[in-house]
Amino acid sequence: MSPLFRRGTPRIRRVDTFSPTDFFGLDEEARVLASQVREIYTPYRPVRTRDLLFGREAEVVAVVEALNTPGRHAFVCGERGVGKTSLAAVVATLLTDATSLPHTVKRCDPADTFESVLERPLTALGVDVHRIESTVQHTRARNTNVSIGTTGIKKERQLAVGALYRPDGRVGVAEAAEHLKAAAGLLVVDEADAITDPTVLTKVATLIKHLSDLGSPFKVLIVGTPETAAALTTTHPSARHCVKTVTLRPLATDALGHLVRTGGEALGFAFADEVVAGIARASAGHPHFAHLLALTCAEKAVVDGRRDIAPADLIYAMAAATGEVDPGLPAAFIDAVDGDLASPAVDLLKKAAIADGPEFESDTVNPAFVPVRPGVYRFADPRMRPYLRIRFPFG
Ligand SMILES: Nc1ncnc2c1ncn2[C@@H]1O[C@H](COP(=O)(O)OP(=O)(O)OP(=O)(O)O)[C@@H](O)[C@H]1O
Ligand SMILES: [Mg+2]
Repeated sequence: MSPLFRRGTPRIRRVDTFSPTDFFGLDEEARVLASQVREIYTPYRPVRTRDLLFGREAEVVAVVEALNTPGRHAFVCGERGVGKTSLAAVVATLLTDATSLPHTVKRCDPADTFESVLERPLTALGVDVHRIESTVQHTRARNTNVSIGTTGIKKERQLAVGALYRPDGRVGVAEAAEHLKAAAGLLVVDEADAITDPTVLTKVATLIKHLSDLGSPFKVLIVGTPETAAALTTTHPSARHCVKTVTLRPLATDALGHLVRTGGEALGFAFADEVVAGIARASAGHPHFAHLLALTCAEKAVVDGRRDIAPADLIYAMAAATGEVDPGLPAAFIDAVDGDLASPAVDLLKKAAIADGPEFESDTVNPAFVPVRPGVYRFADPRMRPYLRIRFPFG
């Protein structure tokens, strides 16, 4: 029985002619869960183990080398969905396994400050990053004359006055570096592009410079987009010098094919060569799409009780996966064709999506395009290429 049905007794009372697994048609879901296909094809979560990370050998080596070099830190840079978090997770695990260097991952959000980014490693060293305000109580006595009837009463009242002092308690960059200078560890700053305050990244880069100057064994691995790179370049050139930038390009077609085929072998499925090639081509360098298509094909085979995956499964998977992508993609497509599926802009976008590389020539501008140089564009959202390839599989 699948894990879905292991937890406790169903709340609905059994009727003899009914199996509990027939409610809502969940028996197919139970078979899919039991097949483990969702453990191998993971469109919605980063890869964490090196045997599931394909096509990134050179990048892993480059990041590990940088972090193993005294005074050097690293920045993994890439477009959305290209595999940055996966690479950083595998590198961090490899380093911890090989050298016992403890690592911690900070996933950033728009509200992050320098203190919140550094919170975990500093807290581990006994630094309270939250103590940014102090309250001081002053007590003073006051004499009050209160008259009741003809009797005068002299009364003493206590007044407590709270005063807030800021921002002296904030953790400064140099202070943080002093705390971290003897601490061996790795901090992965993931989704650094989500931070909205530009001074936070500047401070992190300055911290890196201080750590390098102090010869600290504490390392920082920043993960972000080209916009993060732009924010980091506003720092002092010598701070930039301490950071090795490793840029992740779209995944090569053979790595995407390898991802599909290796997963199939692990699960006992045989993907036809045309299906492997079709998934790799449609994905246009985006591993999320390769996982999504392979998973949809494999789930269909499980439900049908088959082990072979044929081109018809890929046609089915493309249609099904079109409804599973980030809703921002169909919305951006509809905007780009002005809500009109008969518009000539549809052909313009389809033509751009089937171009071999991310850049293409066009005489016509479109809201989904950004200019690279005169007459040459790329999609503003690089995921638009695979999205259009699966939405219009026949061109
Ligand atoms: N090298 C790889 N081999 C196989 N699958 C990968 C690889 N890199 C990433 N993936 C898969 O691709 C998808 C996106 O990966 P990941 O979340 O690491 O990308 P990201 O660049 O961090 O995305 P985002 O920009 O949204 O943060 C996930 O489904 C992940 O399992
Ligand atoms: Mg990520």
